[in-house]
Amino acid sequence: MPTAAEPMENLDQIGREISACTDCALSRNRNRAVPGEGPSDADFVLVGEAPGFNEDQQGRPFVGAAGRLLEELLSHAGLSRGQVFITNTVKCRPLNNRDPLPGEMAACRKYLDRQLEVISPKVVVTLGRYSLASFLPGEAIGKARGRPRNVNGTIVYPIYHPAAALRQQALRKVIEEDMQKLPELLKAAPQPQEGPQEEQLSMF
Ligand code: URA
Repeated sequence: MPTAAEPMENLDQIGREISACTDCALSRNRNRAVPGEGPSDADFVLVGEAPGFNEDQQGRPFVGAAGRLLEELLSHAGLSRGQVFITNTVKCRPLNNRDPLPGEMAACRKYLDRQLEVISPKVVVTLGRYSLASFLPGEAIGKARGRPRNVNGTIVYPIYHPAAALRQQALRKVIEEDMQKLPELLKAAPQPQEGPQEEQLSMF
């Protein structure tokens, strides 16, 4: 916990550090870093994979085709983009939209952890297998999706990445259904004053 001498940092400060970061090779080719965006008291944090071309140009997450679909999917759950915090496992674009490497994800993880510490969301929604791997290593997306877990008092809720539905139309319905469960997850989320996390596990 931060003390009076050590105030809680804020998202802007973390964003500035991300924009100046040179801790991995992705920084060499970036146009703009993409720290993430949304309210600092968001109940939901959505963690995607990595910025793509449009995100790298604009410095904002999910602004391309996958972003438009994400907004539509959120609206099915009665949520708008402005109500959730959206970020990625790595904050700089891998060239040619290749998958992020384990070392890049590891180098960037500290920023995600700090963002989560500031926001303290009720639910972390992992979008796709790379984001899933960074919260629940070794789990397969096909089995893990749609099954919320209590990870140290925070609900981690894996779903498919919206881009998967752009490639494979059949997945769209699955993502829609998983997304629609977000409001009920919030109701079931552990309250800070409630008991140890093991008691919460029975909910799911
Ligand atoms: N896909 C992602 O995973 N993140 C973005 O920001 C955009 C597309």
